Amino acid sequence: MPPGVKYLIERAPKLLFGPILAFVLIYIAQSYLNFTFSTTRTWLWVLLSGPFLFSILLGLDDIKNYLAARSMGAILPPFTDDLSPGGIWSILKEIRNAENGYIAEDLENMTAFTLNLRMLFQNRMVTTEPEHIKSILSTEFDRYEKGEEIRQVLGPLLGNGVFNTDGRQRIQILFHRSITRPFFTKDRISHFDNFERHANDVLHQIKTRLREGYPVDIQDAVGRFAIDSACEFLFGNDIRSLSSGLPYPQSSALHRVYEDSAKDDVATLFSLAFSKAQQILLYRIRLGLHWPLTEFWKDELQEQKSTIYALIDPIVKEAVRRRQQRTVRPYSEGTSKVEDEITLLDHLVNSTDDPVMLRDEIMNLLVAGRDTTSSTLSFVIYMLALNPPVLDRLRKEILQRVGLSRRPDYDDVKEMKYLRAVINETLRLYPPVPFNLRMSKQASLWPPTLPGGKPYYIPANTRIGYTVLGMHRRVDLWGPDALDFDPDRFLDDRLQKYLTPNPFIFLPFNAGPRICLGQQFAYNEVSFFIIKLLQSFSGIELAEDAQPIRSRAPAAWATEPGRKAKEKLRPKSHLTMYLDGGLWVKLTESLVD
Ligand code: HEM
Ligand SMILES: *[C@@H]1O[C@H](CO)[C@@H](O)[C@H](O)[C@H]1NC(C)=O
Ligand SMILES: *[C@@H]1O[C@H](CO)[C@@H](O)[C@H](O)[C@H]1NC(C)=O
Ligand SMILES: *[C@@H]1O[C@H](CO)[C@@H](O)[C@H](O)[C@H]1NC(C)=O
Repeated sequence: MPPGVKYLIERAPKLLFGPILAFVLIYIAQSYLNFTFSTTRTWLWVLLSGPFLFSILLGLDDIKNYLAARSMGAILPPFTDDLSPGGIWSILKEIRNAENGYIAEDLENMTAFTLNLRMLFQNRMVTTEPEHIKSILSTEFDRYEKGEEIRQVLGPLLGNGVFNTDGRQRIQILFHRSITRPFFTKDRISHFDNFERHANDVLHQIKTRLREGYPVDIQDAVGRFAIDSACEFLFGNDIRSLSSGLPYPQSSALHRVYEDSAKDDVATLFSLAFSKAQQILLYRIRLGLHWPLTEFWKDELQEQKSTIYALIDPIVKEAVRRRQQRTVRPYSEGTSKVEDEITLLDHLVNSTDDPVMLRDEIMNLLVAGRDTTSSTLSFVIYMLALNPPVLDRLRKEILQRVGLSRRPDYDDVKEMKYLRAVINETLRLYPPVPFNLRMSKQASLWPPTLPGGKPYYIPANTRIGYTVLGMHRRVDLWGPDALDFDPDRFLDDRLQKYLTPNPFIFLPFNAGPRICLGQQFAYNEVSFFIIKLLQSFSGIELAEDAQPIRSRAPAAWATEPGRKAKEKLRPKSHLTMYLDGGLWVKLTESLVD
């Protein structure tokens, strides 16, 4: 059934209630009370009854919340200054901004750090306030959930995977956790062989391409590195997305040839479909449960999903096959060597053979492990290109420890303090998951933001957006230079001044019971790749002429206030951050003597 039709049918009782009530009242008035209504007036009343009734209910709800807040000595979070009906103006602005604007523009000038955006007649809180985010994620964790709306919006792609479940499915969380946790331990992640093979592969390809005289879209390259590494680590399955080669700049004659050859390449198609699917989901998140109205006749996601499943389903099949083999030869008889080869997927398959569930879980882990890491890597490289002194200092630290060719190990990575500061500073300005959502299960209070102020009252069933991107860039939390890229803030006295006393101002991986399970894996993977990259190359330069025109930062930005003045490209976000049009660079090869 087309999504729009289903939407209307589900809502028919509610939508028809007002008009039917109006009709009945008018009928009674005419038949028994001797009122006369012209046909036009009857229709007018019938048509307006819905909006009229709706406004009354909304007003009553507001009054109820106001009174509840007052009775607790609290206040309601302020509204934005957008007075258009349903906040439609803000929504249109958001959509336009997503195309042409700068990513955090509105956040840089929020009139308060916690606001009610009230979009589509729905209360939507949005916050960049660490104390409030702390309540949601950590201290009051049980009062919040991902909730039905998020499940309905993201469900079509993420199903019942780890990103999408909670609340009523708490047991499932525990289940997810118990099977997921043991795999993110030091022992396993310090096995760098996986990173090494894929890093060598991609660096070799980059070198070859540069020697041919072309720049490289390194965002595409690290995306392939990330997915190949993640699939091998999580599923024991090398999907070899690197084997389809790197794209050429659009202006080059070979671009066409590449496109043609990539046309049937599962991994390349997967990447494209995955981005498109995230784009569609972003749109749906804005509209919430009303998304079927813009995809009335056709669920736009279907097409992308079949492309995505083309990659995932073979992984599921293979895992099920492996398990069946195991029942013949139980792996428990093996040594620790065999133990090593048991992946997260083996665990999953061991606990269920429901292919839909397996597919959902794999999908979620791919979202978790692929885009976030490649986003971090891309933005680190982007920042190194824009800040040569940082690059030189980082490279010095790396070469001092491992030289030009030694393979880094776990201890090397741990010792490289500046590298970690560079990664942290990148995660601060460009957190891969910039926005996130929860629903309140019960009414809650958020602590006052000003000393002596009143707490905020958050009604039950309220949609809450929190944005770490906004929080990470706040001048009052990070100091006057908050918008500058400066890794030293994680090393010098600014650390003691800002972050140490208030750790909740830095949350690229979330916090609390649902903190990212892949954090260590991600730090190691990103560190490993950057080390290898700077062993091979000594300079990074943007190749802006290879960048599609729409993806270059407009000249006007340079003189405007805020972080955008420092951008050369356009950072954007669907569910995760990325650089629009890729990250085309030229690299200088290290001189090996
Ligand atoms: C720099 C890279 C990464 C960043 C910034 C990041 C960030 C996040 C964030 C913000 C969440 C919370 C999502 C939410 O609750 O709404 C999360 C959850 C998660 N991440 Fe990561 N992540 C990264 C890499 C990875 C990797 C490489 C993996 C796996 C290999 C991974 C696995 C997970 C899992 C399984 C969860 C779900 C935890 C739960 O809900 O209990 N992440 N991550
Ligand atoms: C934010 O507001 C200030 C003061 O009103 C203004 O000077 C500045 O240009 C605004 N910044 C952005 C990014 O719009
Ligand atoms: C698979 O399940 C069996 C029995 O439930 C259990 O003994 C074994 O440890 C499990 N193996 C893995 C890898 O989870
Ligand atoms: C980077 O941030 C993490 C917290 O996410 C922290 O544990 C680590 O100490 C930081 N490292 C540096 C060098 O800033």
